[in-house]
Amino acid sequence: MTETLDQLRNDFLANVEAAEDLAALEELRVSALGKKGGISKQMQGLGKLPPEERKKAGQELNAVKTAVAEAIESKKLALEEAVLDARLAEEAIDVSLPIRPETEGRLHPITQTIDEAIAILGEMGFAVAEGPEIEDDFHNFTALNIPPEHPARQMHDTFYLPKKENGSRMMLRTHTSPVQIRTMLSEEPPLRIIAPGRTYRCDSDMTHTPMFHQIEGLVVDKSTHFGHLKGCLLNFMSAFFEVDDLPLRFRPSFFPFTEPSAEADIGCSREGGELKIGGSGDWMEILGCGMVHPNVLRACDIDPEEYQGFAFGLGVERMAMLKYGIPDLRTFFDGDLRWLKHYGFVPLEAPSLVRGLS
Ligand code: PHE
Repeated sequence: MTETLDQLRNDFLANVEAAEDLAALEELRVSALGKKGGISKQMQGLGKLPPEERKKAGQELNAVKTAVAEAIESKKLALEEAVLDARLAEEAIDVSLPIRPETEGRLHPITQTIDEAIAILGEMGFAVAEGPEIEDDFHNFTALNIPPEHPARQMHDTFYLPKKENGSRMMLRTHTSPVQIRTMLSEEPPLRIIAPGRTYRCDSDMTHTPMFHQIEGLVVDKSTHFGHLKGCLLNFMSAFFEVDDLPLRFRPSFFPFTEPSAEADIGCSREGGELKIGGSGDWMEILGCGMVHPNVLRACDIDPEEYQGFAFGLGVERMAMLKYGIPDLRTFFDGDLRWLKHYGFVPLEAPSLVRGLS
C-alpha cells in the first residue's frame, strides 16, 4: 500500500473515531465517501494509472473504502446508542421511590363500606346510579306509591324545605328509593342499579342520626322474581361479611313501593355476649326489600304486565357497625380524628373481590 493511501486511511479512521455527534460523522462520511470525497477522488484517479498497477491500486483503494465505511457505520451505531442512553437517562422516572410511608388520612368506615358494596355488586353486574339529596314530592313519595294522605309520609319524619310560591315543598330525601324512580324514568329496562347515598330523617337517639346512608338496589327485567332477590342478597351478604355459611331469611313486611315486601335477616350468634355474623342460632335484621309494586312501574311508564323487578334498601352504618364491630352509631359523625384513625381505612387499598375487601 502506498504511503499516501495509508495516510488517507489512518486520517479518516482517526477522524471517525473523534467524531462527537451524528452530524459531524455525516460530514465526515460525505468528505470521504461522497461523490466529491477524498476516496472517490482517488477512485477517479485510477484511470490514469497504467493497467498493470491499476488492479492492485484499485483493490487497495477498495479495502480503504470498506474500512472507512465500516468504521463510520459502527461509530454511527455507537453515537445513536449514546443519544438514546442520554435520553433514557434524562427522562427516567424512579418508580422505586417510596410513597410517603404513612398517610395520615383515613377513609371513613362509611366510605369503605360503600366501596366494598360497589365492588361486590359491581361484579354482579350492577351499575351505580345517583340522585339529588334534595328531592321533590313526586320522586320521594308519590311515584313510590305513597299518596299524599299516606301515613308513611309522617312515618318518614321528613325534613321539609320552606314552601315555594306554588305551595310545593322540597325535602331532604328520606331514603334512596327516589333513585329507583329517576333511573326507571331515564333508562329503559332491563335495569340493574345500586344507589348509595345520604338520606335524612328527623330522628336522633342512640340508634338514629338525622343523616344516615343507604344503598338502594333495583333490578327490572321481564322474568325477575323473588328467587333472584334472595340469591342476589345471599351472594352479596356472604361476600360482604366474608362468611360462607350465612343463612338468610325473609319476614313479611310492608313498604308501599314493594309487593310483596319483606325484611331480610342474616344468621348470627351471640354466644358469650359477643356478636358473630354467620351460622345459625340467632337472627339479625339487615334490610328491607320486595318486588317492585306495579304502581311504581306504572308511574315510570313501565308496563307491569311485561316487566317486574325487585328492590332492596340497606343501611350503610348498620352494615359497617356489624362488620367492623363499631359499637355506637353516633360516633360515626363526631368527626373525632382518633376514632377515624382507629376505625378508618388506608386510602390506597381500594377494596376488590380479587385482592380482598378490607
Ligand atoms: N326505602 C326503604 C326504607 O328506607 C327500604 C326499601 C328499599 C325497602 C327498597 C324495600 C325496597 O326503609
